[in-house]
Amino acid sequence: LASTDVELEPIAEGQAVTVMWRGKPVFVRHRTAADIAAAREVPLSQLPDPQPDQARVQRDQWLVLLGICTHLGCVPLGQKPTDAKGDYNGWFCPCHGSHYDTSGRIRKGPAPRNLEVPQYAFTSDTKIRIG
Ligand code: FES
Repeated sequence: LASTDVELEPIAEGQAVTVMWRGKPVFVRHRTAADIAAAREVPLSQLPDPQPDQARVQRDQWLVLLGICTHLGCVPLGQKPTDAKGDYNGWFCPCHGSHYDTSGRIRKGPAPRNLEVPQYAFTSDTKIRIG
């Protein structure tokens, strides 16, 4: 399947869903105001892979990421409410301890790069198409 459609309406603020796209997990998180503020207040100079949050989202409250750790490819935790989310309230890769923030950027641990943002587009106010 070349592309995957995701309905955003059922995803409440603070929640996330995982969808499969080309056999890979894609994380879609409905960020809270606190998530967005946390992602924006950190100076780029403190980031191992410096990228502004604004460059990683199309709409502030929706974060879309490939759910594959950039270290050795495990699927990070953080999608379920009960999951460990790491020290930066994003995702935590349990394989070797990489911590990602609320923008999916690597903050601590062996992963060399931020979680990748796949190509996607808003096809309406409440729907995205990945791929
Ligand atoms: Fe994620 Fe190694 S694969 S920290």
